Amino acid sequence: MKDEVYRYNDLDPAVEARVDALLARMTLAEKIGQLVQTTPFVMPDPDEMQRVIEQAQQTGQPVQFMQRLRPGLEDRIRAGGIGSIFGINDGATINALQRLAVEESRLGIPLIVGNDVIHGFRTIFPIPLAESCTWNPALLERAARAAAEEASACGTDWIFAPMVDIARDGRWGRIAEGAGEDPFLGAAMARARVRGFQAGGLRSGRRVAACPKHYVGYGAAEAGRDYNTVDISERTLRDVYLPPFKAAFDAGAGSVMSAFNEIAGIPATINPLTLRTILRDEWSWPGMVVSDYEAVAELIQHGVAADLKEAGRLSILAGLDMEMVSTAFADHLAELVAEGAVPESRVEEAARRVLRLKVRLGLFERPYTDETLPAHLILCEEFRSLALEVARQSMVLLKNAGNLLPLAQGGRRLAVVGPLADARQDMLGTWAFFGRAEDAETVLDALRLRLPEDAIFHAAGCPIVGDGPADIAGAVAATQAADVIIAVVGESANMSGEARSRMHLGLPSRQQALMDALTATGKPLVVVLMSGRPLVIPRLAEQADALLVAWHAGIRAGSAVADLLFGAVSPSGKLTTSWPAAEGQIPVYYAHKNTGRPMTGAGALQFAEPFKSRYIDGPNEPLFPFGFGLSYTTFAYRDLRVETPIIGPEDILVVSATIENTGLRPAEEVVQLYVRDLVGSVTRPVKELKGFRRMALQPGEAQVVRFEVPAHDLGFHGPDMKYVVEPGAFAVWIGPNSVEGLEGRFEVR
Ligand code: BGC
Repeated sequence: MKDEVYRYNDLDPAVEARVDALLARMTLAEKIGQLVQTTPFVMPDPDEMQRVIEQAQQTGQPVQFMQRLRPGLEDRIRAGGIGSIFGINDGATINALQRLAVEESRLGIPLIVGNDVIHGFRTIFPIPLAESCTWNPALLERAARAAAEEASACGTDWIFAPMVDIARDGRWGRIAEGAGEDPFLGAAMARARVRGFQAGGLRSGRRVAACPKHYVGYGAAEAGRDYNTVDISERTLRDVYLPPFKAAFDAGAGSVMSAFNEIAGIPATINPLTLRTILRDEWSWPGMVVSDYEAVAELIQHGVAADLKEAGRLSILAGLDMEMVSTAFADHLAELVAEGAVPESRVEEAARRVLRLKVRLGLFERPYTDETLPAHLILCEEFRSLALEVARQSMVLLKNAGNLLPLAQGGRRLAVVGPLADARQDMLGTWAFFGRAEDAETVLDALRLRLPEDAIFHAAGCPIVGDGPADIAGAVAATQAADVIIAVVGESANMSGEARSRMHLGLPSRQQALMDALTATGKPLVVVLMSGRPLVIPRLAEQADALLVAWHAGIRAGSAVADLLFGAVSPSGKLTTSWPAAEGQIPVYYAHKNTGRPMTGAGALQFAEPFKSRYIDGPNEPLFPFGFGLSYTTFAYRDLRVETPIIGPEDILVVSATIENTGLRPAEEVVQLYVRDLVGSVTRPVKELKGFRRMALQPGEAQVVRFEVPAHDLGFHGPDMKYVVEPGAFAVWIGPNSVEGLEGRFEVR
């Protein structure tokens, strides 16, 4: 059944019986072994690492460390002391290690092989933040499935994704890995990705399990600094940060990765509210919790455990099931059980969860991967075109003064300048562990394929990052004979992602100086902006005649940009994070609260002027709002109809509107539905996304878009922290983004 999606989190009596039978035969040491996860290779020492990185930079080849198996790994697998390995993609080595587990360990329990497949395995797709700008869950499901196809063919059973952390702070580099600032959109993307990863009928004949992460609140790191303190209210946790996890579980995810951060004083690795109360008591979720990388040992640095043994005790008692990389479980769990500090039943519960996943994955029947498969599957045309489609839909046109875009393909000479115009490695984005620069197309490549050689002048102008040699004058010279400048600027791939927080969110290096010089030429200026986060670019946005956000768009980045620049397709991506006007606005997001002295109200007359919630030196509004993105055509919104002006808490709200393509090109529009609960027992956001639809419209075509929103989705966590849909009046909008739209009213009774 091709369309089947595997679920790993409902209990199947046959599976349970099998797991019980296995557990009955296991020693304590073997049970503990199932809770141990390690990387199979030793990390190179810093000198070697440096040498390899430098060599890769010089040759343009991927960074490839010599892989040395951890000493003693093979014996530990034979002894049943390891349940999982990760960070390995070569089928032959995986099979060799798996053979030790299956054929040489006492009970033959297979390893589960995990990997970070965040936006593609070898066929690298746009970074997830970009992917979310497609607002197209069906497409992302296909992309996730393609990633699972490749990963599975190379021996991966378990994908450490989707990353479903809500992020409202662009300083945080990991904003690149998620679906942006909104819980409703985030939940839709989480669902789609889990379905894609866990799709039935993979060509490997094997199965894959998703692992949503990082549970939970990781995106709320103070000041956007990675791993920093998180101190959000339980209500915000429940209303904003948890919904994508719930959606992933509802879609069938049977594992979750706990986060590095603390939540209001208690690290997520040992947090009783999130690991016990919510996961088990409230959601009755039977899945398995794996820690993040060495997060158990990091409890010592957090200052909640004195040593590794205590860290292990706290983690297992809190409900953590598998420990990634650090060795508290391997080194101390047996001793803790012997001392009576940890009940063996808890170890058994954790082992049961791991074994359940292994059984449901079919690992006992099919432990090995077919080593010949990757050759047919990796980077196949089907996946490459899918990567192109996702890239096209993920790019967001923020400005197009005088309809400079699309460019006519013939007769115009282009100056293709900027340090990202030909930066192959950077097209891949932050988490392209198994991707290769040589697979990627740059903008320059793609334009050269479409235009005669003498119609393109290229110059980098300056480095992407750092103060290396720049030749801004050379870049300006390259524009002399050109009719239009295409400036490809922004961040390098490794400026976003893990441990890549930034405090200045403008163009790095001398890129702004380059842009100033290009602007001074007076030539029409198209900016293609590549980044892993929302940037702060008021000056650049002013300078550009046209501004296309291309993100780090994966291996087909170049073609996608060229297709959009020349109008083969019209841009249709819309932002899933607000783009701040200044760093000082952060966090800035559309679903904020009104406050008692909102900007739009009269304020309170104290002293000489109304006191309002605002800045004295700049606007409250972001430079570009959530949901915003332009097209080469125009759309008219009319005839809003609230078909159900009064609904009960079990009913469905039905709202429709007519959307017309009033321009001259076929295009797709992402239509959005927002609500506001006007009076609640707790304060409510000024707007909340509750529906969206991508629709294709021919010039002159009008279509009615009809949204059906279950009243149940209109609730929130009330004063007692219980989810409630309260009676009362709501505003509703259907519009092209979070600030425009047709407005109506309805009531919940
Ligand atoms: C990251 C996780 C990742 C893990 C394994 C950690 O540093 O936070 O997202 O899955 O490493 O590579």
